[in-house]
Amino acid sequence: MKTQELHGLTTEIDELRDEAIARLDALDSSARATDWEREFVGPKGKVTALLRRLGALPAEQRPAAGRAAQAFRNELESAFRPVQERLHREDLARRLSDDALDITLPGRQPLVGTVHPVSEMIDELIEIFALLGFRAVFGPEVETGRYNFDLLNIPADHPARDVWDTIIIDDPEAELVLRTHTSPMQARTMERSKPPIRVIVPGKAFRFEAQDASHEWQFTQLEGLAVDTRITMTDLKGVLQELARQLFGPERRIRFRCDFFPFVEPGVEFAVDCAICEGKGCRVCKHTGWLEMGGAGMVHPNVLRGVGYDPDVYTGFAFGLGIERLIMMKHGVDDVRAFAANDIRFLRRFAAGTCVSALNRG
Ligand code: PHE
Repeated sequence: MKTQELHGLTTEIDELRDEAIARLDALDSSARATDWEREFVGPKGKVTALLRRLGALPAEQRPAAGRAAQAFRNELESAFRPVQERLHREDLARRLSDDALDITLPGRQPLVGTVHPVSEMIDELIEIFALLGFRAVFGPEVETGRYNFDLLNIPADHPARDVWDTIIIDDPEAELVLRTHTSPMQARTMERSKPPIRVIVPGKAFRFEAQDASHEWQFTQLEGLAVDTRITMTDLKGVLQELARQLFGPERRIRFRCDFFPFVEPGVEFAVDCAICEGKGCRVCKHTGWLEMGGAGMVHPNVLRGVGYDPDVYTGFAFGLGIERLIMMKHGVDDVRAFAANDIRFLRRFAAGTCVSALNRG
């Protein structure tokens, strides 16, 4: 009976060994190894349960059984340790390669903005005029009727006021408008400084317009003003000539034709000969050989008087041009609406420095 029990224990150990070793060999992760450890050699494991049962054996058998059971436990534990270490190392290696940063992946391109073509042209104009002694000043976009019209020799009942129809701000106290041109800065500049005056005024202007390929209700202008004791029309022509050459090349010529603006006398419209066809006539200049740049003239005596300047002492010239138009001429853009349409494809063409075709031709 007693021998039988000991024999039974040995059989049990052998079976448990087969099971434990087979399971140990099949382990494939350190998480599973921990399970194995708990199941077989842990405090609540099968081997521990076996050892506990030794107490029930007759005293004389206990030492031999105890040694056998303890040896079995040691055997399992020493079989387990290298497996556990190997699995732990494998797990670590797997995690390292799974979580690794793949530096061969191409990065995400951040979207980098570019300078808007109008801003770019303003910068170019400021640079050109700086070399001619002009400084850039900026004025308010919401103007009073006094600066936008009255001080520019356009009285309230003058029909010329209709030419500059614009958005009127509803204010019973003052006649406030979105400025129709940058010319109000003429009087503002003369009021706050003394001759000699040489300024340019880049900025937005607003008009009540039906929009089409060459008209926008909001656009950008460049005003120019020079006032001194001996300014003549020749100075005006020289400055505009130089502007045309700086912008369109050293061969360019300019043309003056009579025009009317209430704030200049005499008044002209000025054009540059078409650089694309050398004045022979092409699609860009609409077969005229000339590209209209803007209006200009000698500052009207009434404008000088309005700001307290004596027209017998001081004379001056003024000019105004549309900046979008200038870019359209320079780069062959044929729809002014492209500048405010916010189509990134249009804007990017400037950034690439390539020629720009029409918005609608994509
Ligand atoms: N202010 C005029 C316009 O917008 C242009 C201009 C400016 C004409 C200065 C003459 C002198 O049409």
